[in-house]
Amino acid sequence: MNGGADRPPNRLDGRTAFVTGAAIGIGRAIATRLAQEGADLMLFDINQAEAEETAHLVRAAGRRCVVIRGDVGDYVQVKIAVDSCVQVLGSIDIMVNNAGISPMGTIADTSLEDFRNVFRVNVDGVFHGCKAVAPHMMERKSGKIINISSWFGKVGKHSYGPYCASKFAVIGLTQSMAMEMAAHGVNVNAVCPGTIVNTGMREQADREAVRLGRLTARQRESGIPLGRVGLPQDISRVVAFLASEDADYMTGQSINVTGGLLMH
Ligand SMILES: NC(=O)c1ccc[n+]([C@@H]2O[C@H](COP(=O)([O-])OP(=O)(O)OC[C@H]3O[C@@H](n4cnc5c(N)ncnc54)[C@H](O)[C@@H]3O)[C@@H](O)[C@H]2O)c1
Repeated sequence: MNGGADRPPNRLDGRTAFVTGAAIGIGRAIATRLAQEGADLMLFDINQAEAEETAHLVRAAGRRCVVIRGDVGDYVQVKIAVDSCVQVLGSIDIMVNNAGISPMGTIADTSLEDFRNVFRVNVDGVFHGCKAVAPHMMERKSGKIINISSWFGKVGKHSYGPYCASKFAVIGLTQSMAMEMAAHGVNVNAVCPGTIVNTGMREQADREAVRLGRLTARQRESGIPLGRVGLPQDISRVVAFLASEDADYMTGQSINVTGGLLMH
């Protein structure tokens, strides 16, 4: 397995990043990686206690870090946090809209309330982050926005209807915003993770799989072309690349990071 050890380059020296859903899982790995590459961080999450743990990792990398407890589904909270990030850390060069939820259930069994809640977090949350940061990035004529979608944003899956629909929507928002922001010097891309372990979402999905008599992520590992499940670090490395000048000529893309599970 080669998902962990690496020596990060200093591609993000002097940059400032805002990461939603940074308390655990993929968001924590993203925050840590951006810090290791030189960025100062603001972390935005409903889970303040775990977000403070992530902040320790960021500070251990020698970078400044501020935690704000908040809900991506509430635009006012996101806007206040974005504005205070600009005030306290000086700017936002990188916006990572990562917070998400993935309750399982067939469409027939999903209540209207549960469906709307998935959209409230996964779609409204991304829209709120993009909208709040857009004027700042347009004024500075630079910026990188990275939205975390999923390989379920490109193919439908049994028992994941609301989640799939929300992740398809993230790709639509990403492509439209990429067109709108291109003339303003802002790149907007999405990352589509595959089966990523060591996250809260994966633990919940595996518990559900066991309950329904289905295979867990590890039990499905042999079906992944690269022969292993993904780790949060597999995603954070690609996010750091998209946040860097190395990806200056990329916008509107939805990059699969799936070990080959999906190839389009
Ligand atoms: N784990 C996977 O296999 C996988 C696969 C594809 C896509 N993704 C996507 O990656 C992203 C991160 O997922 P993860 O697996 O790390 O999940 P996770 O459950 O480990 O982390 C999600 C984070 O988002 C936060 N969050 C949830 N609702 C929030 C809200 N309303 N406001 C602010 N913060 C909120 C949680 O507190 C948590 O810190 C999600 O968008 C998810 O859909 C994950």
